[in-house]
Amino acid sequence: MKVSLGAATIALPLPAWVICTYDQHGRANAMTASWTGVCCSVPPCLYFSARESRYTYECVSARRAFTVNIPSATQAAQTDFLGIASGRKVDKLARAGLTTVPGKHVDAPAIVEFPLTLECRLAQQLDLGSHTMFIGEILDVQCFEELLNADGKLDGAKIRAFTYCPADSTYYATGPALGGGYQLGRALLPESGADQSG
Ligand SMILES: Cc1cc2nc3c(=O)[nH]c(=O)nc-3n(C[C@H](O)[C@H](O)[C@H](O)COP(=O)(O)O)c2cc1C
Repeated sequence: MKVSLGAATIALPLPAWVICTYDQHGRANAMTASWTGVCCSVPPCLYFSARESRYTYECVSARRAFTVNIPSATQAAQTDFLGIASGRKVDKLARAGLTTVPGKHVDAPAIVEFPLTLECRLAQQLDLGSHTMFIGEILDVQCFEELLNADGKLDGAKIRAFTYCPADSTYYATGPALGGGYQLGRALLPESGADQSG
């Protein structure tokens, strides 16, 4: 039997992405965001939602660009820190021992030590209530070379990504592979075949 948890933002698994921007002085800042996801394939787009009070809100609105930086499990403490202090008061990246390089395609910095960076141009900004959804068009994805498999594709196991559970406010590691996407369910397919479009 299921019990009701009410009208809550409990969706799993949620990422812990780090949104990186330049402020009006050209200083790099970073903020952790879990209200995030991919929202379009063509053009490739993702979103994160932020409260207006976040320094990042101001920076993205002004620069119209940001990067999404995806950490490994070993970087959970740094990621958490970026979500509990504001760039208005603290040079968070320096305190966390993180460095940045300018994005290759957008006016936003990329975190060098995190294994995966997505460079985004702000495409749309949608005020939803407590949060504003920032939709970014992904212009490029960069990852550590050692995360690629023999086919040149990003190996999901090697990155050791982790998730955030808002229900118990805890980070969780991801486990071993379960099987192939668009593959595991094939045994249950009717004769009519599969829909492969994501
Ligand atoms: C795990 C985690 C997830 C978070 N997700 C979001 C989010 O999706 N949107 C948001 O506005 N704030 C979120 N926060 C809070 C911001 O990261 C936090 O307020 C941060 O200090 C804002 O930094 P800034 O003022 O430098 O932009 C999250 C914090 C943590 C620890």
